[in-house]
Amino acid sequence: MKLIMLGAPGAGKGTQAARVAEALQIPHISTGDIFRANIKNGTELGKKAKAYMDQGKLVPDELTCDLVADRIAKDDCSGGFILDGFPRTIPQAEALDKVLTERGEKIDFAVNIDVPDEAIVSRMSGRRACVGCGATYHIEFNPPKKEGICDNCGAELILREDDKPETVATRLKVYHEQTQPLIDFYEKKGALVTVDGTLPMDEVYKAILGKLGK
Ligand code: AP5
Repeated sequence: MKLIMLGAPGAGKGTQAARVAEALQIPHISTGDIFRANIKNGTELGKKAKAYMDQGKLVPDELTCDLVADRIAKDDCSGGFILDGFPRTIPQAEALDKVLTERGEKIDFAVNIDVPDEAIVSRMSGRRACVGCGATYHIEFNPPKKEGICDNCGAELILREDDKPETVATRLKVYHEQTQPLIDFYEKKGALVTVDGTLPMDEVYKAILGKLGK
């Protein structure tokens, strides 16, 4: 199954994509995680991406589309994948369509996790991300077993640079201007399913599996 996760920053795309990927045994591909790994490793791509990410802006399409096309061409994606954070603009969605059409494939479902802006800012200030494996926690809704330490790999948990309130406001603005139009794009294709992302995490997860017919 080929899936896309849509939703505002902090809607819960990463949280749910990780669980759905495990349930369906398909790779979870997060462009945000790929960029953060490149920043951590000091690559050229990471240096370029950081300048945009720290301001809450999108990394340019030309740095993003080929990276995803290469990733989904790998063997582990032959049985499907979940894209988390891509596409984020109409040109990215068209580029993805082109790559899939050339392979005689298409996106099965675009899962839109719907959360109003008011809920986003408080969610983001409570999020903690692992510097080692990228796992995501929330100090109130999904705390780690030991404060400040990742359950999976034991590395430190931090507040992401772009989760500071002023940057979150920019990210929300960018989302409404550039990413929200994708909801219409996938609705017209008959691939859109929407779930209420304000529900507790387990309920959001069950709702997504239900929409996927699982
Ligand atoms: P990216 O990492 O993709 O960030 P994002 O889309 O802004 O999404 P987030 O990771 O912030 O949130 P999420 O929806 O995954 O929520 P999460 O599950 O963590 O991108 C970062 C940056 O990289 C972008 O700003 C851009 O610069 C660049 N970039 C990435 N992809 C790009 C692309 N394609 N093109 C251009 N630029 C790109 O949940 C959030 C918090 O809420 C967590 O603490 C979680 O525990 C908690 N939570 C989750 N669900 C619930 C719930 N149901 N109830 C209560 N709390 C919950």
